[in-house]
Amino acid sequence: MALIKRGLARAFNSCEAIFEYAFGQRNNPFVWLGALGWYFYWIVAATGVYLYIFFDTGITDAYASVEYMTNDQWYAAGIMRSLHRYASDALVIVVVLHIFREFAFDRLRGRRFFAWLTGVPLLAFIYICGISGYWLVWDQLAQYIALATSEWLDTLPLFGEPIANNFLNNTTLGGRFFTLMVFIHIFGPLFMLLLMWVHIQRHSQAKVNPPRPLAIGTLVALTALSLIYPAVSQGPANLDVVPTDLGLDWYYLVAYPLLDVIPGGQMWLYLFMGFAILAALPWMPPAKRVPASEVNLNNCNGCTRCFDDCPFGAITMVPRTDGQAYDTQPRVNVNNCTSCGICVGSCPTATPFRRAGPLTPGIELPSRTIAGLREELVIATAELAGSARIVVFACDTSVTDSIEGDDTAVIRLPCVGMLPPSFVDFALKRNHADGVMIAGCAEGDCHHRLGNEWTRERMARRRDPFLRRRVDTRRLLLSWLPRGATGRRRRALAEFRDSLEGLGHE
Ligand code: HEM
Ligand code: SF4
Ligand code: SF4
Repeated sequence: MALIKRGLARAFNSCEAIFEYAFGQRNNPFVWLGALGWYFYWIVAATGVYLYIFFDTGITDAYASVEYMTNDQWYAAGIMRSLHRYASDALVIVVVLHIFREFAFDRLRGRRFFAWLTGVPLLAFIYICGISGYWLVWDQLAQYIALATSEWLDTLPLFGEPIANNFLNNTTLGGRFFTLMVFIHIFGPLFMLLLMWVHIQRHSQAKVNPPRPLAIGTLVALTALSLIYPAVSQGPANLDVVPTDLGLDWYYLVAYPLLDVIPGGQMWLYLFMGFAILAALPWMPPAKRVPASEVNLNNCNGCTRCFDDCPFGAITMVPRTDGQAYDTQPRVNVNNCTSCGICVGSCPTATPFRRAGPLTPGIELPSRTIAGLREELVIATAELAGSARIVVFACDTSVTDSIEGDDTAVIRLPCVGMLPPSFVDFALKRNHADGVMIAGCAEGDCHHRLGNEWTRERMARRRDPFLRRRVDTRRLLLSWLPRGATGRRRRALAEFRDSLEGLGHE
């Protein structure tokens, strides 16, 4: 499994490097696949509402109403129809890539299983909604889908009499099933929206909107495609004639040709097994259990910063229980906590300057304490030599290469968001280093979701806890690069070293 993930991750890294070159780091579509899924959903929903105004929901007139929209009202309803079709196709593309990417970058195991597990039924719903949509056009493609699907459904012991009998010829055709499809195509997406909302419940500030340039760019591209290749129907359905020349939609109907060669029962088995394996992936193999963060009320003033910064909604503020004169205290839900440490980086009491008593902040990771981090900083920098001694606080996920040297010490963290800004001040003011580099994941693509964003804000003195004014920011380098970007990271470090040499010791 690890080998497959590594191979996939490498493939994504290579593709994404090209896209980053073309779109820039911030607008790289690969970083926004989930948000693009939401965006395409809204386009499909909005265009669907418009189409419903003109669509005749009866089986006898459905085809004619779609033809009217496509040909007579091509400038409005026709474009809406094409946008509806192409945004649905785009939804499949981004969701499939989203699945592979979350898998490749291992964002599904351990306490992060929830989004994955709720995503599995979402995938099924996308297909149910898409296939029922093709049915509604009631052209020859719809006729093929109606017969193939109902024959396939008949292999399950669900219905008293075979439902395929509805589609044998024009005299047996009943509108009952068609009405059911209209119902599914309207209520399916509503239920899907509910599932999409559940899907992101364990994410605080979930990324559901792509950046504006990306949103506008994709809408323009879809509209251009709609004008150049408008979506059209095939000939009207006629159950007395077997359709021969079918142009299948390869995004939604890719499995249909298989129904001609694989018996229906076997297809159900494969489908069931596919979904079961997909649902089991977060536990293949189970993640190593890292203890969740812990609150130390003695050093907590109830400031709520940890609650504001936790990317996984694992912290709630509850009434104070220890009699101190603060209203609230944080409570960690261990089932949601991914042990990223971002809450520790946000806590004002996590400062290495503290002398009185043991260095125990209000919130802390038992496996990576702040006292331990201070000790590691002191030891790791003790032997550094040269005029530009650098300490790098590196994200464990994105910095996979070795960048240590005689003048460079590297301290790894589960996420750079775990680093309180006071550590930068401490490293420089106490002369442990001449410069500090913080090396984390690419912009908008933090493995722990928000760690690099909060770090950037804290260091820019826009988010609590602020980096102190006395810190000379020429001695601080923030470097956000995708994993595997070894060359670029080394170059950034070398340039930083040169600039520090110009500054001399502090
Ligand atoms: C309509 C379909 C879907 C949409 C719109 C969607 C959207 C999203 C969004 C907006 C996020 C949050 C991104 C962030 O803020 O970090 C997300 C995360 C995620 N999704 Fe989906 N998703 C869909 C389907 C799926 C499917 C089918 C799967 C897998 C079977 C899946 C697996 C995940 C995982 C593993 C995460 C990340 C969890 C984490 O970071 O801990 N999603 N999705
Ligand atoms: S370690 Fe991360 S997930 Fe856990 S409470 Fe802190 S910020 Fe939230
Ligand atoms: S950030 Fe620290 S002091 Fe503030 S509420 Fe959380 S644990 Fe308490």
